[in-house]
Amino acid sequence: MSVITISHLCKNYPLGKQEVQAVKDVSFNIERGEFAAISGPSGSGKSTILNMIGLIDLPTSGSIIIGDTDVYKGINLADAEVQNDRWVSSGNEKDAKKKKRTTIPAKLDRRITGLRRSHLGFIFQTFNLIPVLNVYENIEFPLLIKSKNPVAKSPVDDFSKKEKEDWVNFLIEKVGLTDWRDHKSSELSGGQRQRVAIARALVTKAPVILADEPTANLDSENSKQILSLMKDLNRDKDLQTTFIFSTHDARIVNMCDHVVHLLDGKITNDEYKTGSDIYGEAD
Ligand SMILES: Nc1ncnc2c1ncn2[C@@H]1O[C@H](COP(=O)(O)OP(=O)(O)OP(=O)(O)O)[C@@H](O)[C@H]1O
Ligand SMILES: [Mg+2]
Repeated sequence: MSVITISHLCKNYPLGKQEVQAVKDVSFNIERGEFAAISGPSGSGKSTILNMIGLIDLPTSGSIIIGDTDVYKGINLADAEVQNDRWVSSGNEKDAKKKKRTTIPAKLDRRITGLRRSHLGFIFQTFNLIPVLNVYENIEFPLLIKSKNPVAKSPVDDFSKKEKEDWVNFLIEKVGLTDWRDHKSSELSGGQRQRVAIARALVTKAPVILADEPTANLDSENSKQILSLMKDLNRDKDLQTTFIFSTHDARIVNMCDHVVHLLDGKITNDEYKTGSDIYGEAD
């Protein structure tokens, strides 16, 4: 069963009077349970694709199906534009201001925020934890955000208070942080912070976890432990979590069973293989 289907995806960024074609007509599927990587040299479009799958950035054209929702169906993408700091500050300021700006239509906005909570978990390079909260509170955090939006529903929303506590504690144990449960995240090492980020990404039981260069800020021992942990979580039959990485780390690529190779915004190879269990260079 496909959890993500992207078809003819394109992304152009404004660059002065011109445009950079960061992603050019990219199509691929991700099936439930895959340990997948989007791989390629710097500037090849990995983060751009991951951000579009994560519904953080809008495509210029093309379609993205998440679960059974065709995210941009019925939407004129040329009229919809993400108004966030990232876009504004990275474009040419003068041109960006001159350009006619429209907000995302409310219906699409609700769909996007809903899908993000119910279907997607994020692991960021810089962990993005809340420093004053302890490990338990950081992991619990996404469960505290209440929404009446039916698309945003997570199965954990129906848990009793006790069941939620047990679930958060179960995840803390899974990522090996039981002894650190009450420590503030500012007191943790990089590897420990990444473990908290993984548990937080899993807490809503989202079927797909996205991780942009998850080992970029970790030393090789911590990278090894974090990747083994993610592979264990990926294999866990109860969780059935799909992982999609953007990476140029050959040791991650070696562990994946599906690798989308990119060059200059285009797919050069959509490869299926048997991923290694060990974070290490291929023989
Ligand atoms: N916000 C932006 N505004 C303008 N151009 C951008 C923006 N983000 C990315 N680009 C351009 O799009 C192309 C793809 O960038 P992207 O960040 O997706 O590459 P990447 O494969 O993730 O690279 P890296 O390995 O360095 O992280 C690059 O040419 C980049 O300069
Ligand atoms: Mg990148």
